[in-house]
Amino acid sequence: QRLVRRELAEYRLIVVSNRQPYAFRIENGQLVGEMPPGGLTAAIDPLMRACGGTWIAQSGGEADLTAMDADGRVAVPLGSPAYNLRLLNLTEAENNGYYYGFSNEGLWPLCHIAYTEPVFDAQNYETYKAVNRKFANLVVDEIGDQPAIVLVQDYHLALLPRYIRQVCEDVIIGQFWHIPWPNPDILRICPWQEEILDGMLGNDLLGFHLAGDCHNFLDCVQRNLDAQVEPQFGLVDYQNDMTLVRPFPISIDFDGLDAEARSPEVESEMARLTQEFGLDHGRILGLGIDRQDYTKGIPHRLRAVERFLEKWPEYQGRLVFLQAGATSRTNIDSYMQLTIDIESTVNRINERFGDGNWQPIAYWPTSFPSATFSALRRLASFCAESSLHDGMNLVAKEYVASRVDEDGVLILSAFAGASQELSSSIIINPYATEQFADAIHQALTMSDEERRLRMRHMRSIVQENNIYNWAGRIMMNLMQASTPDHARLPT
Ligand code: G6P
Repeated sequence: QRLVRRELAEYRLIVVSNRQPYAFRIENGQLVGEMPPGGLTAAIDPLMRACGGTWIAQSGGEADLTAMDADGRVAVPLGSPAYNLRLLNLTEAENNGYYYGFSNEGLWPLCHIAYTEPVFDAQNYETYKAVNRKFANLVVDEIGDQPAIVLVQDYHLALLPRYIRQVCEDVIIGQFWHIPWPNPDILRICPWQEEILDGMLGNDLLGFHLAGDCHNFLDCVQRNLDAQVEPQFGLVDYQNDMTLVRPFPISIDFDGLDAEARSPEVESEMARLTQEFGLDHGRILGLGIDRQDYTKGIPHRLRAVERFLEKWPEYQGRLVFLQAGATSRTNIDSYMQLTIDIESTVNRINERFGDGNWQPIAYWPTSFPSATFSALRRLASFCAESSLHDGMNLVAKEYVASRVDEDGVLILSAFAGASQELSSSIIINPYATEQFADAIHQALTMSDEERRLRMRHMRSIVQENNIYNWAGRIMMNLMQASTPDHARLPT
């Protein structure tokens, strides 16, 4: 680690992501910059603070205009700046084609097996390319003539590594792909699959969550490009450049969430919510937290709760299942339809079982302060994450980190990347409603001892592979990948 830190100091560090790490707003005439919840910023912000450099992202709101200078730069954190943000303004048409269109109507459903058909519109792809070029121009401008490391984030920027490489041959480039990678038969649906693969092979290091994603990617390269692939080393030799392809299962700030869960603020939220849900009067809380996305299997989860209440009627009047989390990407038809489906399922179940005193499903489709989420996680007898397909699913890891009492049961989809590490959860197939309902029953009837054993095991795993560990391993591998004989270095 020391070696990496010393080597790192010699490079200019540039991070590129679609979303910016600080959201700005004006409060009482003052500019405030707040870190959004979520793993990415929590992992990379400390690295940026330690190393300095520039984080390039799309500008997100009106207050950004007040925050940034004429070149789009803002020194962050406000008040004690350690690095620069550089914000790229996109027009509405650019955002529609690049973000909503190609990224989220094309690549997102392509990479997730959730049976939502990808839309591949040629105009959207042109816009995606143009926006990736705009990001590349900013990166190249930031690099100047210094040695630099560029860390690219996610599927919004698949072409960016190649665009940078075309101008700056010697720069070290790594990319982390935060969502699954499909097999060659699925990737074929994308009319521009070769260009996407070529773009990503501009990287020295390409990270996915799971070994399975890496294998899929290598298969796709082998099938589509004139490249030499060495699956046993995770290496691609393409146009005289090497790309190392490795799994880095992302994680969370375990210690931070653990500390938050013990805080007085969370204790007082717990007291409030205990009353609100009647947990002091024998009620039981089940919990689902998700950004509202069709990959999360929210209707499937609600149907399992319905089947559970039907099968074990003694829980009618006792179990409250809270589905919480904000709507997302609401300009896209499939997301609008999802909200309609969730609402109608919630209403149907509540009408079927509920009465004046008790409604089985509570539905909170908004975001809340992190202390509220932390308190909910501490109070819920079980948390159900039922993704139809998910790169990782950090909610599952957050539930585990918040259970400082080593209690609570995690019900987790086999199709979420997190299920590979969290094998002490109850693993379910979200499509198998009967099995899912049985898992809820198992969670609620499990012995204290078994609950504790399972939770303790999962906590030790997440504590060990935390987000800092993840970022550290990526940086170590990136330094290795950029040395000429990297094929022989250990991981
Ligand atoms: C996924 C993606 C992220 C994205 C997040 C929220 O986790 O991998 O890149 O930021 O969803 O989606 P949004 O479209 O709101 O940024």
